[in-house]
Amino acid sequence: MKILLIGSNGRLGKALKYKIKKLNVNIVQINRKDINLYYAKNLIEKLNIIKPDIIINAAAFTNVDQAELSPKYVFMLNTYLVSILAKYSYENGILIIHYSTNYVFDGNKKDLYNENDRTNPINIYGYSKYLSENNIFISKSKYLIFRFGWLISNYKNNLVTNIINSLLTDKILSINYNQIIVPTHVDIIVDITIIFIIYYINNININIGLYHISPLGRVNIYNLSCYILDYMNFLDIKTKIDKNNIIINNNNKINLRPYNACLNSSKIKKLLRINIPHWKIGVNKVINQFFKSY
Ligand SMILES: NC(=O)c1ccc[n+]([C@@H]2O[C@H](COP(=O)([O-])OP(=O)(O)OC[C@H]3O[C@@H](n4cnc5c(N)ncnc54)[C@H](OP(=O)(O)O)[C@@H]3O)[C@@H](O)[C@H]2O)c1
Repeated sequence: MKILLIGSNGRLGKALKYKIKKLNVNIVQINRKDINLYYAKNLIEKLNIIKPDIIINAAAFTNVDQAELSPKYVFMLNTYLVSILAKYSYENGILIIHYSTNYVFDGNKKDLYNENDRTNPINIYGYSKYLSENNIFISKSKYLIFRFGWLISNYKNNLVTNIINSLLTDKILSINYNQIIVPTHVDIIVDITIIFIIYYINNININIGLYHISPLGRVNIYNLSCYILDYMNFLDIKTKIDKNNIIINNNNKINLRPYNACLNSSKIKKLLRINIPHWKIGVNKVINQFFKSY
């Protein structure tokens, strides 16, 4: 069994690589130093040589603000690359595993979003990922698409590590987008991916398709910042900021982020008979790891 992992140096890619290596499979990695994925056509030659049984696509243009300024590159990577991978997967009987986002929704729903809710992306990043999903749906390939939001880990900067850094060094923590969010630890996404891979390798019938993954609870970014501050104080970590210096910045910036695009993961929980922990567990993990050698 050969697994091709594309984007193996990203937040998710790195964590996937670490756990997949523990399985008894052949893993081939592709990252930016092997190929510039903006020019995805060059990839076909490589795929013909590698001959994977499973393609995992963890590469993407993920900077939401930057995406508004560079739509061409966003669509080349997030949409066009995926259409090539999906077509190739269909033609060669490969399982494609792809990751998408809660930003395919506009965030106006009060409740959690289900897999069959209407998509309505409001920014370039969300639109490019919505198109990526469609490219897979129409390809007729065997696919797994996992939608989630606000990935956190210790591999690369993310919302939680940015808040920690700001609390340690800044005078004011200014929140530009006070969305309702669910911080999602990378281990949850990786562990669920691994369960599906194990099923697939062992020819256990799996329901392929689209799944939402989200920890329990939701929080706005102001309260998340206060939670992180309290936890750091609990760990006796000195911060430069107290709660009076955490402010919501209501400037005139156009906010292209969905306000409340939180996901309902009942479908995957029922299928795999798993519990997904509360977001605080993942946030605590990132903070503990951050200050491990402090
Ligand atoms: N981060 C989130 O909060 C979030 C939320 C929901 C869904 N997702 C989805 O989850 C998946 C993984 O996200 P992530 O946060 O792990 O992303 P990430 O950390 O930004 O990693 C993306 C990977 O893509 C690679 N890449 C970007 N442009 C490339 C190019 N032109 N050629 C070759 N490689 C290129 C990057 O390479 P370099 O390392 O060399 O830059 C990196 O390894 C994506 O599909 C994303 O849309 C992420």
